[in-house]
Amino acid sequence: MENKEKKLLLQISNLKQYFPVGKGSFVKANDGISIDIYEGETFGLVGESGCGKSTLGRSILQLYKQTDGRTMYFGRSIDEVAPRYAYDTFRSLTRRRKELEEKKAKYEAFQAEYDKKTEQEQYALHGELTHLRKEANDAMLDVATLIGGLFAAPDLKPVEEIFLKEYGVSRELRKAQDQRMDIQLDVDDAAYALKKAEEAGKDTAAARKKLDKAQEKLDACLKNIASINERIDVIHNEIAEMRKNCCSEPGYAEFEAYHSNGIDLARLTYSEMRGLRSDLQLIFQDPYSSLNSRMTVGQIIGEGMIAHKFFRRNDDRMKDEIIRVMEECGLAPYFLHRYPHQFSGGQRQRIGIARSLALNPKFVVCDEAVSALDVSIQAQIINLLQDLKEKQNLTYLFITHDLSVVKYISDRIGVMYLGNMVETAPSDDIFAHPLHPYTEALLNAIPTTDENQSSELEILEGDIPSPVNPPKGCKFHTRCKYCTEVCTQVVPQMQEVRPNHFVACHHILEQNKD
Ligand SMILES: Nc1ncnc2c1ncn2[C@@H]1O[C@H](COP(=O)(O)OP(=O)(O)O)[C@@H](O)[C@H]1O
Ligand code: SF4
Ligand SMILES: [Mg+2]
Repeated sequence: MENKEKKLLLQISNLKQYFPVGKGSFVKANDGISIDIYEGETFGLVGESGCGKSTLGRSILQLYKQTDGRTMYFGRSIDEVAPRYAYDTFRSLTRRRKELEEKKAKYEAFQAEYDKKTEQEQYALHGELTHLRKEANDAMLDVATLIGGLFAAPDLKPVEEIFLKEYGVSRELRKAQDQRMDIQLDVDDAAYALKKAEEAGKDTAAARKKLDKAQEKLDACLKNIASINERIDVIHNEIAEMRKNCCSEPGYAEFEAYHSNGIDLARLTYSEMRGLRSDLQLIFQDPYSSLNSRMTVGQIIGEGMIAHKFFRRNDDRMKDEIIRVMEECGLAPYFLHRYPHQFSGGQRQRIGIARSLALNPKFVVCDEAVSALDVSIQAQIINLLQDLKEKQNLTYLFITHDLSVVKYISDRIGVMYLGNMVETAPSDDIFAHPLHPYTEALLNAIPTTDENQSSELEILEGDIPSPVNPPKGCKFHTRCKYCTEVCTQVVPQMQEVRPNHFVACHHILEQNKD
C-alpha cells in the first residue's frame, strides 16, 4: 500500500506518557512518539517487554490521559463531535493571535540585538529566545490545528465569529443525531411489537398507531438533521470564501498538515471521549482476566451494544445480532449462555474479539492478543483478525514482543526502545534492511524452531536501563556494539533513509542500506 493513496486515520505527534513514581521522579514510558497510522493498515509495534508498547496503545485510546502531545483522529469530523476545546480555542483566537504578534516582535527585537551582545549576554538571550519561539509556535499550532492553516486576515473578529457559528450549529447537529438514535430505537420497538401482534393474530390497531407516531417523529428528526447539514454547508462555503480573501502567510506551510477535520483525542472531555469509545477498541493479551466471570458470553458481547445504544436492554433482536457476531468470530451459537471459565484460551480470545468488534470499531489496538496462546491457536486467531479486518475495513495497532508474529500481518512495523520509536518501515523492508542496531539484535533473537521459542526477548546483552533515569544521548548506547562517543551525548533524530523507512541512529547499518 502506497501512503499517498491512503487516508490518514491517526496522527500521533510527540506523545508523552510519564507515570509519577514518587519523589518527583517519572517513568518515561512514552517519551515523545510520533507516528501516522493509515486507514486499513496494520501497524505492528515491537520491542522488549517494558519498552512502552502497551502504554502507547492505551494512551492513543485515551485510557490514560497523555502527559503531552497530540493524538489527531480523522475517523470523525470536528462538526460531528463539536468538542468543547474547539469552542474554547475559537473564543481565544483573537487573543492568541495578538499574543503571537507580540511575541514575534519581541523575538525579532532580540534577534536584531543579538550580534551586539557579549558572549555571556548572548547565552542568556539564547535561553529566552528558545522559550519565546516555543511559546509562539505552540500558540500558532493551536490555532492552526483547528482552522486548518493560519488565517492572516487583517481583522480576525469575523473569523472568530464564523467559527463560533460553525461550532453552535455542530452542537445542534450532535444533539439531533443523538435524538435520532433514540427515536430509531422507538421505531424498531414499535415495528417489532406490530410484527408480533400480527403473528399472534391479535388486534394490530394500537401497535400500528404507535409505529406511525414513532415514524412521524423520526421523519421530523431526519428533516431537522438535513436542514442543519444545509446550514453547515453554507458556513463551510463562507469559510472557504474567507480563506480565499486572507493572504496566506509564507513560512507557515508546515502547519497546513494539521487539518481542521481531525479531532485531538487528548483534548476531549470524558463524556466526549465516551461518545467515540465504540470507534476505538482494545483487545487484551489475557482474555481470562478481561472477561467478567459472572457474565455469560451473550451478556459480555451485548454489554457494549446496550451502552452504545445499538439496542435497548431486554431487546430480543439483540440476541440475533450477538449470534451473528459470534458466528463471525468462530463461536457456536449454543455458547451464548455459557461462562468464560467453560472455554479454552483460544475461545476466550474469540469472545474478547467478538465483544470489541460488535461495536463496529474503526481502530483496534491488539495488545499481545495472541501471545498467551499456543502457536497453532495463534495462527487461527491471526487469521480471524485478518478476515475481520478485511470485512469491516478495520485499522489495527498490533502490539507484540514477538517479531515473528508481526511479520506476516503488518503493513508497517515500528520498533520501540525504552519509550522511543527507533525505527519504522514497511514490514518487508524492515526484515530485509534493518538499519537500527537494536532492530538487528531483535531479528537475530528470533528463534528458528518452535522449541526454542522464548516467551520474552532476553537475547540482547546487558540489562534494560531504568526508564526513570534513561541513558543520555541514544538510550540504547549502554547495550549497543556500534556505540561511539557521539552516541553517549547526542540524541539521534528520526530520518528517512530508504523510502518510507525511518531510523534514529548515528551509525545506521550501512551494509543493509541498499
Ligand atoms: N500505570 C503505570 N504506573 C507506573 N508505571 C507504569 C504504568 N504502566 C506502565 N508503567 C511502566 O512503564 C514502562 C512501560 O510499560 P509497558 O507500556 O507496559 O511496556 P510493554 O507493553 O512494552 O511491555 C514500564 O517501565 C512499566 O513499568
Ligand atoms: S546511535 Fe549509537 S548507540 Fe544508538 S543505536 Fe546508533 S550506533 Fe548504537
Ligand atoms: Mg505490554
